[in-house]
Amino acid sequence: MTVPEVGDILFLMNDLRLHPSRPEESERVRTRLRLCTFVSYGPLVLPFRTLLSPLAGFTNLPFRRVVHELGGLGLGTTDLVNARGLLAGSEKTLRLIATHPIDRPFSVQIFGGEASIMRDAAQLLEARGVDSIDINMGCPVPKVVKTGAGASLMCHADAATELVKAVVEAVHVPVTVKMRLGWDASQLTAPRFAREFEQVGVAAVAIHGRTRAQGFSGTVNRDGIRQVVEAVDSIPVIANGDIRSVDDAISMYDETGCQAISIGRGALANPWIFRQLAEWESTGDWSPAGSFNDRLLLMRTQFRYLQEWVGEETAVSAFRKMSHWYTKAMRVGPALRHAVQSAKTGEEFEQVLQEIALAGPRGATKDGLLPDFEIPVPSGPNEHW
Ligand SMILES: Cc1cc2nc3c(=O)[nH]c(=O)nc-3n(C[C@H](O)[C@H](O)[C@H](O)COP(=O)(O)O)c2cc1C
Repeated sequence: MTVPEVGDILFLMNDLRLHPSRPEESERVRTRLRLCTFVSYGPLVLPFRTLLSPLAGFTNLPFRRVVHELGGLGLGTTDLVNARGLLAGSEKTLRLIATHPIDRPFSVQIFGGEASIMRDAAQLLEARGVDSIDINMGCPVPKVVKTGAGASLMCHADAATELVKAVVEAVHVPVTVKMRLGWDASQLTAPRFAREFEQVGVAAVAIHGRTRAQGFSGTVNRDGIRQVVEAVDSIPVIANGDIRSVDDAISMYDETGCQAISIGRGALANPWIFRQLAEWESTGDWSPAGSFNDRLLLMRTQFRYLQEWVGEETAVSAFRKMSHWYTKAMRVGPALRHAVQSAKTGEEFEQVLQEIALAGPRGATKDGLLPDFEIPVPSGPNEHW
């Protein structure tokens, strides 16, 4: 067997097309999606139907920028932002809502248990030019839930609807709600909530197909998401949970009847997934995710954006979580992965990247396909997302 040259591998990667594992299901879904060409949040037409789910600590501006640059992203959402913190003008909170011309359209996700605070925060965001506002009703973290915000709103139907109504009426930009299927298996309230929220004017709802009690355990209940799709009249339902590949997305569309999806953890392992899905929708196949070299470039670019955003010192520590996933997906050996985590300055970080570039991936080529990588799912107690 001849060993391919680097140039050949690049050519191979550019030319290589990946195909759905269940072609009939894929064609059925593509045919249906052609009937609803655009996903709109009221007057806001999204350029693609795959959205980035909020992931606190990860979906900051630098990450949203690189994902947009790779293509296929319909809308990025910020990490959840404390409505009170926003009104207090805290520097840290204001940094979370920073944006960039490429980061459009973008949505800011706010949380809070008091309608008046949420309303004022929404007005502040509108005045700052955000495209859309998302209300968090899914957060299971005790520090959020005990204030009457996040998933606990799902236990108080009237208060939740009043809060949503107050926000919708206070702004002109589209307002969306992100929630879980319910508090626990005995209270799958999402269909009823979605219907009520639609009646008070929300532009879309995003559903993570698990209950609060489930945390991240078990599998996503696609049938539960389907019930939400069937409960609303016309607003888009954005289906979310466990989508790691184009095949997963196809099944999500097929089994729920949804118009749009959002992806969180899958985007950490594969930020190219949005582009792959856009390609699949228009052609039925798609190009591979980035190679080792592409990912190295992505790491450098994202780190540069991080430095612009928070300065070098904070960027080095803030990038550790991302480089953890990135270097794992790149098949970097444990010693160099550890070295990235230990870098203290931008210069040290760049030195380690150069060593990583020299070493290359384990069990793969620098410009070829990388073996699939499954990001471990946070699970267990609800203190963790
Ligand atoms: C680390 C982490 C942080 C998260 N932060 C948020 C958040 O700020 N707001 C929110 O609504 N959901 C948050 N979520 C939930 C995700 O948006 C998403 O609903 C969930 O991870 C399921 O989708 P996925 O399987 O595509 O990741 C978070 C999840 C994780 C793992």
